[in-house]
Amino acid sequence: MKILFVGDVFGSAGRRIVTEHLPHMLETHGVDLLVINGENAAGGFGLTPAIANDLFDLGAHVITTGNHVWDKREIIEWMQSVPEDSDERPRRIVRPANYVAGTPGYGWYEGTLPNGQAYAVVNLQGRVFMGSSDDPFRTADAILAQLKTKVVLVDFHAEATSEKVAMGWYLDGRVTAVLGTHTHVPTADARVLPGGTAFQTDVGMSGPYDSVIGVEKDLVLHRFLTGMPAKFEAAKGDPRMAATLITCDGARGRATAVQTFLMGE
Ligand SMILES: [Fe+2]
Ligand SMILES: [Fe+2]
Repeated sequence: MKILFVGDVFGSAGRRIVTEHLPHMLETHGVDLLVINGENAAGGFGLTPAIANDLFDLGAHVITTGNHVWDKREIIEWMQSVPEDSDERPRRIVRPANYVAGTPGYGWYEGTLPNGQAYAVVNLQGRVFMGSSDDPFRTADAILAQLKTKVVLVDFHAEATSEKVAMGWYLDGRVTAVLGTHTHVPTADARVLPGGTAFQTDVGMSGPYDSVIGVEKDLVLHRFLTGMPAKFEAAKGDPRMAATLITCDGARGRATAVQTFLMGE
């Protein structure tokens, strides 16, 4: 079984580059399950129902998010428009599962592919240098106790490399993959851990690399050099798609190979 995970799609440049590459990637690699992090897909900040539909139309089975999930208010109502047991598109957008009780939406999705293969996608958020949330480690334990499938992909949306590496070890042998997102810089450490869990500290951004992690670099430099507020705008130049491909055993849910991609125009 092949799983392709696409790192944070950022703005129109990110949407354009994934639209360019995904059709041939899915075909060439025989991808069964496609998961896309869409937290920055709408102008760098959040996700709208229309843009989510575009990502689903590209073949995404599940869209994961992170701290930017609520930046566009219309996504909240859309995510709340379906019950927990729905398989409709709004239910297949997940936000970090360790957000506090009462937060809209759901933190994981368990589904079945057309070939009968069951899978689950879990979204978690780190606590180091990020907003407060419940313990992502214990939240993962609680979710895994409820899942029926062994094929489980975890998008760990976190700032600190240490917290992400720790989560990889914590879940090694219990999930198919732990892939980091949020920092937008792909890391060169993708590997299969001894227990059979594919791990990468950060998949990287699918968006404009002529930027500071997606934002127009002059605006970010202005803020660093003057300390003055500036309205951030999504950059457009040098779009690249960052994605990680996992090969796994569909019955046992253990990874056998992991391969990373950073593809320009
Ligand atoms: Fe992001
Ligand atoms: Fe983020």
